[in-house]
Amino acid sequence: MKLFSENIEDLRTLYVTSLKKALDMEQKITKALPTMIEKSTDPRLATAFRNHLTETQGHVAKVQTLLREATGDASTGTCKAISALITEAEDNIKDAGDTSIRDITLIASAQQVEHHEIAVYGTLRTWAELLGQDGAANTLESILEEEKKADELLTTISDSVNTTAETRSSFATRA
Ligand SMILES: [Fe+2]
Repeated sequence: MKLFSENIEDLRTLYVTSLKKALDMEQKITKALPTMIEKSTDPRLATAFRNHLTETQGHVAKVQTLLREATGDASTGTCKAISALITEAEDNIKDAGDTSIRDITLIASAQQVEHHEIAVYGTLRTWAELLGQDGAANTLESILEEEKKADELLTTISDSVNTTAETRSSFATRA
């Protein structure tokens, strides 16, 4: 995509606004993950969430650094999407009657969050490239890779958690 100088200023504004929303998103995820760790029954799931909490704290720090470099301060915007995803996750956890069903819903909710993050960072990385900010693009790419790996790990864990839930439900149906 070729950008003219007036477009570049608009893109820069959009980039900074979106970076501020990404910071809010990461901070909200940092607050939501401890409950997800606590509600996990499968030990691999709890460990995956615990490791991702550490990574997410790293994402907060990285995005704050990018914002300070771009604007001189690291104030947040408001990410409405993450608030809705977290509220939905909380509702689903409350509704889950069985521990394996709760694990399934935790994985489903976490993957929705990861997919949102993957979209956010893929976009931000591309915009940083268009703005000629290669250092920022590399940082955003490194966050993107961690989000993708977190999502892949959840898919792997879900294979066995889903089987457990399926076995339990077929026993319940037979009883
Ligand atoms: Fe993240």
